[in-house]
Amino acid sequence: MSHARLRNAAIAGGWSSRTSAAAVKRPTRDGGSGALVARGVGTTAADRRAVGRPVSRSPMLLRPLIPCRGMAVAGSGKVLTGDNVFENLRKMEYAVRGPLLLRALEIEKELQKGVKKPFKEVIKANVGDAHAMGQQPITFLRQVLTLTVSPNLLDDPSYPEDAKERAKTVLHGCKGGSVGSYSESAGIECIRKHVAQYIQERDGIPCDYRNIILSNGASDGIKSFLKLFNEKINGKPSGVLIPIPQYPLYSATLAEFGLTQIGYYLNEENKWSLDLDELERALNECKGKCNPRVLVVINPGNPTGQVLTRSNIENIIRFAHKNHLFLLADEVYQDNIYDKDSAFHSVKKVMTEMGEPYSKMELASFMSISKGYMGECGIRGGYSEIINMDPAAMAVLLKSISAMLCPTVLGQVVMDVVVNPPRPNEPSYQQFQKEKAQTLRSLAERSQLVVDTLNSIPGFRANPAMGAMYVFPRFQLPQKAVEAAKAKGQEPDIFYAFKLLEATGICVIAGSGFGQKPGTYHFRTTILPQKEKIKTMLESLKQFHVKFLEEYS
Ligand SMILES: Cc1ncc(COP(=O)(O)O)c(C=O)c1O
Repeated sequence: MSHARLRNAAIAGGWSSRTSAAAVKRPTRDGGSGALVARGVGTTAADRRAVGRPVSRSPMLLRPLIPCRGMAVAGSGKVLTGDNVFENLRKMEYAVRGPLLLRALEIEKELQKGVKKPFKEVIKANVGDAHAMGQQPITFLRQVLTLTVSPNLLDDPSYPEDAKERAKTVLHGCKGGSVGSYSESAGIECIRKHVAQYIQERDGIPCDYRNIILSNGASDGIKSFLKLFNEKINGKPSGVLIPIPQYPLYSATLAEFGLTQIGYYLNEENKWSLDLDELERALNECKGKCNPRVLVVINPGNPTGQVLTRSNIENIIRFAHKNHLFLLADEVYQDNIYDKDSAFHSVKKVMTEMGEPYSKMELASFMSISKGYMGECGIRGGYSEIINMDPAAMAVLLKSISAMLCPTVLGQVVMDVVVNPPRPNEPSYQQFQKEKAQTLRSLAERSQLVVDTLNSIPGFRANPAMGAMYVFPRFQLPQKAVEAAKAKGQEPDIFYAFKLLEATGICVIAGSGFGQKPGTYHFRTTILPQKEKIKTMLESLKQFHVKFLEEYS
């Protein structure tokens, strides 16, 4: 078992917290026969020699005679082990990069070594990483980025003037005129102002740049925000309402911070909409166990791809107001709307237009450079807009992010271009608009293609392609397959996803990683492989499913 695999087994919660055995044989999450997992005792000769050796003669270090959880114990050469590392992190799971992906990476290596498989390549439809799947970057965006990294190119006539002007403005805002310097913790002021202008133009509602915080991708901003709720009130932890299925950043973050997850099911029968009755049910169920304080709305949705209607959002806002909840609007897919009858409505706009008391509600909304037409996942840029927050709480948030110095400046540069793209009178306008439209059109086509093809497979049902970058089809599994999965100690959809991977090289994520109603089975596939590849992928998925049904019927 590789180090990465071991590490992931731990992340996936695959290790017990018992402290007795130095090495245990446990089944892996992928249903493998089990692996020798060394815990506590090092495996190298040096490690073995170190076992039992006194670390120091210092009386301070030798004083604790009774070994307790959280300290190096006799028989262990390590201070930090799988058993005493932060428990919340041990429990946390993140399916998108879980055991299925690890196996996919192993298969890729096997293919490179010439191992014969019924397929030639692994198709990673597990993660929303557009560039990894062949999407080309937007030219203007990379030009500005290049110019800020290498200002000597500002004299190069091959770069357009509008890119140079953007780069100069950002460099002017950078300390020492270099993107290599730390910025203010909330981000470079001129970029925060551009973000505010963008939001103002988008919603037609004023936006104060002091409410904008730039971050290392939306994930970083969301985590910094949720951390604020890591406070027990009357001995009870804070509860956070999250959609099920959900993007696992939420379940992982709540597990890490020890916040209580209150799952509300999205209505699959009605295009994954958000039902008020279900929100009420979820809230009632957690009464007495925690203090519900936050309601998370992901719109457009991941993994479900739904785009919420305006009236749906209004109802959510009313519910949050009635129950005194802070709204967290994850709007990273705001550019990814494919359904001609749907539109993106920001929670801020709807809330403000509803007037008081709703317009005074606390809201944190998030945006990213990783999604949309940009797909710049690796550069790590995002922003949050936080409104109506108690100034004292905002001060704590700003203090807490200041301890991390600043978000990556290159991520901030890309965000600047996203919120301040070429204007109609500028030289790069035409090309920028063309590339953006092409990318979004292609995503819309692929989304439709995936939905249509999946719906043509017996036993599959996918909701219409509305937005985001995923399709989350429901499929039926024969009882025999469910029993075979149980015999392996796996969830049936995980069993299915592993079989699919081994037979076709297609890597999707089983629905249980996102949450689903008991007894239903789903997987999440991205729509990101390029058109020809997605066609091949769907064809082999179809063939696999038919064979699977034959085998287990
Ligand atoms: C709904 C949702 N929110 C947040 C993120 C995090 O994005 P980022 O790359 O900006 O951290 C993702 C990434 O897939 C997402 O799907």
